[in-house]
Amino acid sequence: MEGLILGIETSCDETAAAVVKGGEEILSNVVASQVEFHKKFGGVVPEIASRKHVETINLVVQEALEQAAVDFKDLAAVAVTMGPGLIGALLVGAITAQAIAYAWQLPVIGVQHLVSHLWAKFLAHRELDFPFVALLASGGHTGLIYAESAENLELLGETLDDAAGEAFDKVAKFLELGYPGGPIIDELAKQGNPRAINFPRAMLESGDYNFSLSGLKTAVVNYVKREGRERLRIPDVCASFQEALLEVLVVKTVRAAKEKGVKQIVLAGGVAANNRLREWLAEAAREAGLKLFSPPLELCTDNAAMVAAAAFPKLAKGDFLPFNAAPQANLPLSY
Ligand code: KG4
Ligand code: ZN
Repeated sequence: MEGLILGIETSCDETAAAVVKGGEEILSNVVASQVEFHKKFGGVVPEIASRKHVETINLVVQEALEQAAVDFKDLAAVAVTMGPGLIGALLVGAITAQAIAYAWQLPVIGVQHLVSHLWAKFLAHRELDFPFVALLASGGHTGLIYAESAENLELLGETLDDAAGEAFDKVAKFLELGYPGGPIIDELAKQGNPRAINFPRAMLESGDYNFSLSGLKTAVVNYVKREGRERLRIPDVCASFQEALLEVLVVKTVRAAKEKGVKQIVLAGGVAANNRLREWLAEAAREAGLKLFSPPLELCTDNAAMVAAAAFPKLAKGDFLPFNAAPQANLPLSY
């Protein structure tokens, strides 16, 4: 079969493998989540993540091939996330890809993790083309990317401290709501008043596209301690926290799209699941005459189909990694 790529993703706490044909047809997309193992710690524990990847990756790859009804010998290449991410976790994926490639005489294609998130959009919306501005908000990263073309990607700004998902998780942990905190706060916020408490909107008018979210988390902690947990309506705290965090994301995303003169906005990362964010950004985009693309959740969160899709243009160009290439925890944004 033409252009079959096996994608592998292990940058954080999802062990994932997928087979994608021609850069856009998903034949399989298998994700083994480790969330149960990290739950009691209220966040991802890097050492546990690496160990679970080692235990699971072969099964996940096998499952991806079986579901796609293809064999290693049918593949044109193996694509793998080379960073950014947890270094021990990344190594498991990279070594697996390299071992498969060595055994089956296949090229290895390296993919930058944030770039792969952008490519999830092409899997979901084939009509989407460059240029666009993407808001990428997950547990590990939060930033705005200007994608002028496949090869011209500019990181307009990013969080200077906590990622958006991380802020959700930390506030939920402090309020003893459970893990991961994003979906829990999202649900509770629906029953709360977003204007009950006026939490800070840090860097809203900073004149750049960076974010700072750890001060908001501290403001929530201080407020709850000062007022006394028993006297508070937790849904109000959740709704007000969420509103403050999302306002900065929405305003800066639309501002970036206007400044860059693009007509399309793309939403990616686990926080893209947030109901209020989807609704708010859709409304803001409509008002600004912009088109919003938010792919289905399974393509927004970490997966390997997006890795295989992002690798496809490199297949034709023969842009392959040397056999012993090492992943990098801080791999910069570049195609
Ligand atoms: O992309 P993802 O699955 O994994 C990485 O971090 O790479 O994102 C997970 C993050 C977690 O921090 C989780 O709390 C957050 O996304 N999240 C949400 C929602 N669903 C997941 N945050 C806000 N609202 C949600 N509905
Ligand atoms: Zn991610």
